[in-house]
Amino acid sequence: MKILVVGSGGREHALAWALSRSEGVVEVGVAPGNGGTRWEASEGRCRCFCELREPLEAAGDYDLVVVGPEAPLVEGLADKIQGVPVFGPSARAARIEASKLYAKDLMNRYGVPTARHKVLVKGRTEDLEAFGTPVVIKDDGLAAGKGVGVFEDLEPACEFFAELCRSTDRILLEEFLPGPELSVLCFCDGENFALMPPARDYKRRFENDEGPNTGGMGAISPVVDIEDDLLERVGEEVIKPVLKGLADDGAPFVGVLYAGLKLTPDGPKVLEFNCRFGDPETQVILPQFEGNLAQLMLSCAQRSLNEEHIRWGNKSWTTVVLASEGYPGAYQKGFKIRGLDSCSGLVFQAGTALKGDDVVTNGGRVLAVVGCGEDLAEAGANAYEIVSQIQFQGACHRKDIGGAMLSRSVP
Ligand code: AMP
Ligand code: GLY
Repeated sequence: MKILVVGSGGREHALAWALSRSEGVVEVGVAPGNGGTRWEASEGRCRCFCELREPLEAAGDYDLVVVGPEAPLVEGLADKIQGVPVFGPSARAARIEASKLYAKDLMNRYGVPTARHKVLVKGRTEDLEAFGTPVVIKDDGLAAGKGVGVFEDLEPACEFFAELCRSTDRILLEEFLPGPELSVLCFCDGENFALMPPARDYKRRFENDEGPNTGGMGAISPVVDIEDDLLERVGEEVIKPVLKGLADDGAPFVGVLYAGLKLTPDGPKVLEFNCRFGDPETQVILPQFEGNLAQLMLSCAQRSLNEEHIRWGNKSWTTVVLASEGYPGAYQKGFKIRGLDSCSGLVFQAGTALKGDDVVTNGGRVLAVVGCGEDLAEAGANAYEIVSQIQFQGACHRKDIGGAMLSRSVP
């Protein structure tokens, strides 16, 4: 089987790596890929990673197309590719991520637990005042992580609202939900689903969940501090009704449905849905997959999810993101990365480029360093050991990925 992966992040490097390990896969192409996927190709580690033409043009040469990021899905790439199975939802189904108001409406219609919300009318600050604090303000559409603000006080909330009003008139308020977060992802074929091991993403830039939101500074999986029946509950109370709702709306969901949850005292509640794999959750979920990922994704794309291809390992995984100094604000690029060849573990590249034989920094989140262990403490310690073996100018990372047990002694 020849597979085309669309995208250029750490998630897509991980997808290409995992797919190339599936039996029967003879080629994985990545469009456009990044320094990491090109480096893999040049090292001969994966079967084939090539710089490709536009995905739409290239798709015909492949047996399966796997779309990584949300933007091309929301723009209808899966609808436009004809004659080749696509693992990824139609634009209509991708609305579950593209419009938070659509997602809320769907959840309310199908009784899925989520935060109470209110649609804000442009300029009507009095509605915001009446809602009270703490409050969460959200841009309805895709905003690359910048469209959500969580506020204790009214004044900064009003400023954020005024700022959002400049670019959109679709804004919603949400009640603040307390509790730890959990990412639950599942493979879907339009009707049926299979849950993946739960993951936790560390979204804030600094230790103890302080500082600005980022694309994700690290992740762990499987998450163990959850009740035994929680995953089953999420399947029954969240995933099942949402898949039914999407199908009833004429938009059956094929691909990865990602539920971002808060584990509140009243049970799990949905913060958001994504229509694709999470980044960096993918970097700790896919290394656990020991079945045939290519066949599984093909079965989903062909509307007949085949669970026989699923097998999960029993190790724990932690990823620590190495970012450029200044991220998520402005940062410099082009610094040589040292230690990739000789480090003792798995490293997925995100914001990198190849310059001659060198891998150089080319983005905010540069690398996702992945550690494995018998438990999360060992996985975290191993991840930080690999981190200490890699250097580039201005490299920054959080030192508490994996929880309090790691915050004592990491470099
Ligand atoms: P979202 O893009 O909707 O997942 O929001 C980004 C982040 O904002 C989430 O990961 C949460 O940390 C936080 N957040 C969003 N909505 C809420 C909410 N209703 N209550 C508490 N925190 C929230
Ligand atoms: N890690 C969060 C996301 O992929 O949206």
